[in-house]
Amino acid sequence: MPMNDVRIAITSVLRRIFSKPPMATPVDLHHKTVIVTGTSPGSIGYETAKTLAAWGARVIVTTRSKTDACVQQLRAELQADGFPCAVEGHPLDLTHAESVETFVRWYHNSIDAPLHILLNNAGVHSDILGSWTEPHLSDDGFEIHWRTNYMGAMHLTHRLLDRLQQAGTPMEPARVVFVASHLHQKGLNSELFHPSRPYSSWLIYGQSKLGLVHGAFELQRRYAAHNVQSYVLHPGSIATNIAIKGLETNKRMQKLLQIVNPLQMLFMLSPLQGAQTQIYCATQPGLQGGRYFDRCAVATASPEADNRVVAQRLWEETQQWIDGLPTQPSAQHLATPPSATHSGATSQTAAGTA
Ligand SMILES: NC(=O)c1ccc[n+]([C@@H]2O[C@H](COP(=O)([O-])OP(=O)(O)OC[C@H]3O[C@@H](n4cnc5c(N)ncnc54)[C@H](OP(=O)(O)O)[C@@H]3O)[C@@H](O)[C@H]2O)c1
Repeated sequence: MPMNDVRIAITSVLRRIFSKPPMATPVDLHHKTVIVTGTSPGSIGYETAKTLAAWGARVIVTTRSKTDACVQQLRAELQADGFPCAVEGHPLDLTHAESVETFVRWYHNSIDAPLHILLNNAGVHSDILGSWTEPHLSDDGFEIHWRTNYMGAMHLTHRLLDRLQQAGTPMEPARVVFVASHLHQKGLNSELFHPSRPYSSWLIYGQSKLGLVHGAFELQRRYAAHNVQSYVLHPGSIATNIAIKGLETNKRMQKLLQIVNPLQMLFMLSPLQGAQTQIYCATQPGLQGGRYFDRCAVATASPEADNRVVAQRLWEETQQWIDGLPTQPSAQHLATPPSATHSGATSQTAAGTA
């Protein structure tokens, strides 16, 4: 483990032991419609959705599977605590363009409401031990962390911008919140377009989060004048399902982690505590967007994120990729196997589409 990672890990443990994590202040969210992606029980998305619904919002949640069960569990817990339980849900898999398009169509047809807050929370790190020597690819041929964490979130956001603009006003702009990570600091701008480092899932995870920071800052520059503000954040080090899922290829370690999982709470944040910074960004009145947040406060993003030329290029290449996606289901698109040129590091670039 590099020295810098050891330092970050020790700092986060000491912080956890010696300082109380900040909590967002409740805000009246009646008449607000919110989407939170990635809300499986045990995740920070789940606690985020529950809090926003408890504060009065109509909350749309997404999971890859068992969405109905997730909705039922949220409603039951809210009801038991005497809160409103305006929670609805729909499956969403960010790695499948058709799933995103289907979700957006469902939102337009079934929910049919202006969207006040889009919380891009869903994300993966599928190789916590860093043992992959080759990239694992999505069905359409991109490196899986880049595809899920960056491309999927940007696809969804672009498709919902019209609904966000409908909801935003000069006094109360709509908000897009991106859950990144302090690991975006591992990302390099040069690697976004011409990857040259040997494959490491940790580095690509960091690249995907750097992509989100650029995406958030660029969204702010492009849409603040259209009443949409954008926020990006590090949620903290939290005991969720992410590490367990990240051991899927190592069943023995996964079992061990499941056993010691409760101990994580000693040195990591609980999912509710870890949800606070995104709840803060989504709700605190008058909060200026276009900034990076940590512990419910403005923080400093990596200097790489200051490069507007890179952000603009990444935005434009991503937009180009999205514009080329079919908006209606097509059997042919589903059946197309990943091209060989999508293996290796180039699969992480937004430009490397079929
Ligand atoms: N936990 C931490 O310490 C930490 C630190 C920094 C940043 N983060 C970020 O925080 C966010 C939430 O993570 P978490 O810790 O709450 O992890 P989690 O418990 O694993 O929850 C992640 C959520 O994202 C969903 N998801 C995964 N892949 C998806 C895909 N392809 N399409 C749609 N949804 C997908 C998961 O659904 P399934 O249940 O179907 O997998 C789950 O609902 C992520 O963006 C993560 O990168 C977490």
